[in-house]
Amino acid sequence: MPTSYAYFEKRIVPLVEARLPVMTHAFLYGTAVFEGIRGNWSEERDEILLFRPREHFERIKMSAQIMKIALPQDVDELVDICEQVVRRCGFREDVYIRPIAYKSGEVIGPRLHDVADDYLMFVLPFGNYLDVEAGIRCQTSSWRRVPDTSIPARAKVNGLYVNSALAKTEAMENGFDEAIMLSDDGHVSEGSGENVVILRHHRLITPERSDNVLEGITLASVMQLAQDELGLEVIERTIDRSELYVADECFLTGTAAHISPVIEVDRRRVGSGALGPVTKKLQALFFDVLRGRNQKYADWVVAVKPAGEAAPAANAAKMNA
Ligand SMILES: Cc1ncc(COP(=O)(O)O)c(C=O)c1O
Repeated sequence: MPTSYAYFEKRIVPLVEARLPVMTHAFLYGTAVFEGIRGNWSEERDEILLFRPREHFERIKMSAQIMKIALPQDVDELVDICEQVVRRCGFREDVYIRPIAYKSGEVIGPRLHDVADDYLMFVLPFGNYLDVEAGIRCQTSSWRRVPDTSIPARAKVNGLYVNSALAKTEAMENGFDEAIMLSDDGHVSEGSGENVVILRHHRLITPERSDNVLEGITLASVMQLAQDELGLEVIERTIDRSELYVADECFLTGTAAHISPVIEVDRRRVGSGALGPVTKKLQALFFDVLRGRNQKYADWVVAVKPAGEAAPAANAAKMNA
């Protein structure tokens, strides 16, 4: 029976057995950094294909460095632990992997020094997060993106996600699907868990990385596909809020969101108000790469054979007879 497992206190255990004490510093103060990694199920290969795990573990090392969290395992070891846990779960469907490097000491007082650190990760089955086909309706949030001078957004800090949660809930309670946050200076920053991209005059534009954004791995992948496969010019520059309203196309990128077309912003239709032709082409390219169907980008995925047996269609039919 496929089950969620975790790597916890240096052992692989069922997820239900991974429990933290209430005084854990990361719980008291949000002092942890994390990643979200997708494992995409390939029926043809009977394998889960982890999407760019090395890049995710390189990023968690960078986040840990910023937050003074000791993460002694190198990227190879982190990938290896991840593969072992995914294999052990035995899921034959899309999964989501959540690695966390955290302040594990049980002490009172917000600080980063003199608190013990640990590392854990767990795996869950996971489907679509936003509607990648029909598209989503976004609202410019009244919550501003936290500036680098307060909490660095390029580090995936657990406590920073209070900012995302405020924006996401405001947007959803107002009847939208997702929030787009502006920086303090009023320029477009990012979604609650996604980077923002617009298409204007045949160029793909995304905010500069100094605009308080997470340096997205999906974003980098999609921009490379746009450049190399569609010959599009790709630029990073400041984006005004009103440019969202007049963009030819707009989409959000993220591990959870994949490429989610934005069809409306602040009750204004974006482009045709439906999935645009460039977004559609990028989705097709991206999903082929994710599912291991594009040899040119084969090194973007790491294959894991899940434990247990596949249930072949023929056997399933016999059992039902
Ligand atoms: C705030 C934020 N921005 C952007 C992203 C997209 O990053 P990636 O494509 O690496 O998942 C995420 C998701 O991880 C996020 O949480």
